[in-house]
Amino acid sequence: MTATFPEDFLFGTATASYQIEGAVNEDGRCPSIWDTFSHTGHTLNGDTGDVACDFYHRWESDLDLLADLGVDAYRFSVAMPRIMSVEGGEPNPAGLDFYERIVDGLLARGIKPIVTLYHWDLPQYLGDKGGWLNRDTAYRVAEYTAVVARRLGDRVHTYTTLNEPWCSSYLSFGGTEQAPGLGEGPLSFPAVHHLNLAHGLMCQAVRAEVGEGPELSVTLNLQFARGDADAVHRTDLIANRAFLDPMLRGYYPDELFAATRDLCDWSFVKDGDLEQIHQPIDVLGLNYYSTSLVTMSERPQFPQPVCATTFPGCGDIDWLPTEGPHTEMGWNIDPDGLHDLLVRVWDEYRVPLVVTENGMACKDELVVEPDGTKAVHDADRIDYLRRHFEAAARAMDEGVPLRGYFVWSLMDNFEWAFGYSKRFGITYVDYETQERTPKDSFNWYHDVIRSRSVA
Ligand code: FCB
Repeated sequence: MTATFPEDFLFGTATASYQIEGAVNEDGRCPSIWDTFSHTGHTLNGDTGDVACDFYHRWESDLDLLADLGVDAYRFSVAMPRIMSVEGGEPNPAGLDFYERIVDGLLARGIKPIVTLYHWDLPQYLGDKGGWLNRDTAYRVAEYTAVVARRLGDRVHTYTTLNEPWCSSYLSFGGTEQAPGLGEGPLSFPAVHHLNLAHGLMCQAVRAEVGEGPELSVTLNLQFARGDADAVHRTDLIANRAFLDPMLRGYYPDELFAATRDLCDWSFVKDGDLEQIHQPIDVLGLNYYSTSLVTMSERPQFPQPVCATTFPGCGDIDWLPTEGPHTEMGWNIDPDGLHDLLVRVWDEYRVPLVVTENGMACKDELVVEPDGTKAVHDADRIDYLRRHFEAAARAMDEGVPLRGYFVWSLMDNFEWAFGYSKRFGITYVDYETQERTPKDSFNWYHDVIRSRSVA
């Protein structure tokens, strides 16, 4: 079977600032919650983003790499610590200059810039005041958004407010694996709400600065759960509808309040907040990697800390081991889940969709070929991507308006709590020398983009 994609479909790759830039102390950047988290023993081998892929210095050749790949668009994030580097101070010109160079560099190469405004690197000075537990954070992030939008304007194709607020709330406050990693389940809910509020304020800030030109978006990592019906329903409520419903429909489901009654009283939702949150967006971004298998738990879990094997912020659900095959992350491979998720979200919410992340961590091995060139033969990644592209194409055949697909990631990078141990790139990065080697999947993706089809 050959799946084909329309001419205006956006093929791209994605990255995030803290995962690739390095240069954490340069040109006025202030520390972020991820600098702190990674420097205080929360990551594998104590890895940090201090150097990462050194994109801050190598951006030009990395943009050339994107041009070689032939992408239509590139999704990257702006680091708030480079822009609002002094609490309460003026925006940092060096930070704005850097991202302007990226945007102009992309445009010069015929690549559409897709900007994520918040991909987890909150300034530490906001973290010190509670981060997403503090309502004020939403307003500070909206101010920063206005600064960025004013400078980059309509050169940006799409402004995405937040990346995966599920991670910035449940995994960061309910769980311990992401900054600040408090591990207190009930704290997830104020974080959820303040992230939703930030999204709404950020949408308004972008529109006020740039008008109707650029598209507005948010990226969610919706949980596609299988298993017993009650647990699936509850997972959907707490993980998905806690974001989808306020953002796209202007309310929190009553069921959500009922389900979390013993954990929090939601008094942090103030009059008028839902109107602020419910802003028109042009497209909804979905990050998709795998599915989960859930069941109702026998164990009472609150108010105890939760861990990765339970559902952070949703203590009465257990995640069960999934059927293989699994990727190097231990995530199951389930392309049908992508198809089903796209169909479901479109059916219910009627908003055009983009897959803003999809990809696979593999045990990649750099080999030297007989002719002396270096290569990585990542057949498993090609197979993974092919099957997910096919699943997406099937959803499109059934009428889902899917506008684009961004492979995670352009290159190997700092994989958060897993440090440099997980490689997601279609380009191999030698962290000693910073040498880039396109993997087989890079060449495969190049052909997909050129032919706009997956055989
Ligand atoms: C997503 C993140 C992204 C990357 C991938 C593997 O949750 O958005 O930064 O780490 O997972």
